[in-house]
Amino acid sequence: MEKHANFGSRMGAIFAAAGSAVGLGNIWRFPMLVGDNGGAAFILIYIVSILFVGIPIMVGEFVIGRHTQSNMIEAFRQLAPGKWWRIIGVMGIGVAFIILSYYIVVSGWTLYYAYSSFSGALSDPDCNYGAFFGDFVANPWLSLLAAVLFMLMTHLIIIRGVQNGIEKCSKVLMPMLLLIIGILVVCTFSMPGINEGLTFLLKPDFSKLTISVVLAAMGQAFYSLSVAMGCLCTYASYFGRNTRLVSSALSVSSIDTFVAVLSGFIIFPAVFSVPGVDVNAGPGLVFQTLPYVFNMAFGNVPFLAYIFSGLFYILLFLAALTSAISLHEAVTAYVHENWHITRKKASTIVSVSAMSMGVLCCLSFGVLSHWTIFGLTIFDLFDVVSSTIILPLGGVLLALFVGWYLNRELVRKEITNDGQVSQRVFPVLMFLLRWVAPIAILTMFIKGLMEMFGM
Ligand code: TRP
Repeated sequence: MEKHANFGSRMGAIFAAAGSAVGLGNIWRFPMLVGDNGGAAFILIYIVSILFVGIPIMVGEFVIGRHTQSNMIEAFRQLAPGKWWRIIGVMGIGVAFIILSYYIVVSGWTLYYAYSSFSGALSDPDCNYGAFFGDFVANPWLSLLAAVLFMLMTHLIIIRGVQNGIEKCSKVLMPMLLLIIGILVVCTFSMPGINEGLTFLLKPDFSKLTISVVLAAMGQAFYSLSVAMGCLCTYASYFGRNTRLVSSALSVSSIDTFVAVLSGFIIFPAVFSVPGVDVNAGPGLVFQTLPYVFNMAFGNVPFLAYIFSGLFYILLFLAALTSAISLHEAVTAYVHENWHITRKKASTIVSVSAMSMGVLCCLSFGVLSHWTIFGLTIFDLFDVVSSTIILPLGGVLLALFVGWYLNRELVRKEITNDGQVSQRVFPVLMFLLRWVAPIAILTMFIKGLMEMFGM
């Protein structure tokens, strides 16, 4: 049998996992949800979920992946032969596929926006950003072309393999991304709406906090960390024996949370400065406000506005790319290993089928916008169902699996790298996985669903 692939270094492993975590979830989805759900109170619940539920589950996924050195479905098959736990692996692959198919749509938008920045369309002082966005997403050919291009790029990296494709590209792109975010945060302090923006972000209004808001915050925590569906199991199967699982999980989640909160700081002061854009503008929020930020911040030096906006959308695109790669890889690894076909073939099957579903999501902003289920378009349905329903469910199952079913000694061995790393966090982690995570997620999940369906 072919030797299972590996990341070349510990740093490479952290960058790859952080690349998976930091994506559209941080810069596009997080501000959109914060805007919809009332600001600071949502952020507070989000951070609590990351700390007490997200991080322990991430460590759990690392344990499963590194121990079995296999893709998601195979990993559960090995650890729980003949048991229904295997459903977690199947669910994971399914949801990775669903997320990937709408993820490429928004990622395509980033490509078009990068292009429009360089063509000068976005730095035109008379540009109506709301209309610009609306016209673009409703244009089937243009938005499909962008999504297909994006999928092609993801595909080309995946077929280069784990070390040469995934690891190499994460190591270059992640530091660049962090640098640009830092610069943008500084720029936003020149926005006229800075005070209102900061108040919205920092002053919790608990009256806005309903159970379904809490559920959305928890779902977003999972989404942003890339946990609760086994995507990170696949990456952890490429970790070396000396990679420390708990400290890697802490590094990845800190980078991820940091980027999400900073993008809030970039976007909200701008939202309150743009006439006519509402904080709850939905999926278009980031695309309608950010171009304005650049024009405002560099208004007297148009050349800078032009460069900066282009650079930003390229970087947003790159963040999306490293995450799309991880979603793609989770499915490809399974198809490649279990169907016994080459990586190239496996990757092609995944790209083509995810793209076919992507077409529906793409068109749901235009010609198919009247196709709705429970009042949601296909795009919204994929987003809401995967993150608000399947991710919390996957989270509960993973926590129970690692906390109760897996052999305690196996977990201890993985977490301590065979006794080389301190054991102190082990009991805390087990307590969180056994009790805190399942009870918290299940309570919110059931209540959230009841509220959503008006029971
Ligand atoms: N975390 C990524 C983001 O923030 C998206 C993502 C990648 C993801 N892999 C995942 C979400 C696995 C859920 C599960 O954009």
